[in-house]
Amino acid sequence: MTTADIRIEPWTDADLALLRRVNTPEMKKHVGGPETEEQLLVRHRRYLDFVPSGLGCMYRIVLLPEGGSVGTVGYGTRTWEGATVHEMGWNVLPAHQGRGIAVAATRAAVAAARREAAHRYLHAFPSVDNPASNAVCAKAGFTLLGETDFEFPPGRHMRSHNWRVDLANSD
Ligand SMILES: CC(C)(COP(=O)(O)OP(=O)(O)OC[C@H]1O[C@@H](n2cnc3c(N)ncnc32)[C@H](O)[C@@H]1OP(=O)(O)O)[C@@H](O)C(=O)NCCC(=O)NCCS
Repeated sequence: MTTADIRIEPWTDADLALLRRVNTPEMKKHVGGPETEEQLLVRHRRYLDFVPSGLGCMYRIVLLPEGGSVGTVGYGTRTWEGATVHEMGWNVLPAHQGRGIAVAATRAAVAAARREAAHRYLHAFPSVDNPASNAVCAKAGFTLLGETDFEFPPGRHMRSHNWRVDLANSD
């Protein structure tokens, strides 16, 4: 599958329904489990605010040619080791996994970040126990910097891989 088979579209108010479909024990097992409705609404508003505030961009992943939403990909801004960086994450609904959609969508989102992101470095911090997400990093052009302790959600510590793309360098 190539990027021609999916499209990424910036987050809209209608995508709260997609966020709810992603919020299952199966989908959230590597990130501390499902969120409450209140947490989901906070997340949804944060995603809507990414572009106006210049912090990043969240997208829904649209499968072509049908046009249905099959997942999410996008990036925000965080502090990491004293610097302001971007952080990317992705989700593909179970019925559509294993077809290269996450890799294609992540490549498209990284390409958009190269054009639009405010900061030079884009990280991803998948759990060391999440082989699919680590494979997405490797196949979408991230470089593995090493293993790190990562706190997500606040108060929950996990062992993660620290992957990074240099948005200023397309090699
Ligand atoms: C991670 C996730 C987005 C991958 O979505 P996907 O569309 O199935 O991924 P792709 O089809 O693009 O596959 C990417 C690679 O991962 C590999 N992969 C997929 N599932 C795997 C698994 N369970 N174990 C090992 N490798 C796996 C695929 O084989 C593929 O590599 P390959 O082409 O070399 O075979 C999806 O599993 C998901 O949404 N998981 C739950 C949410 C999550 O954990 N998000 C990341 C938080 S850091």
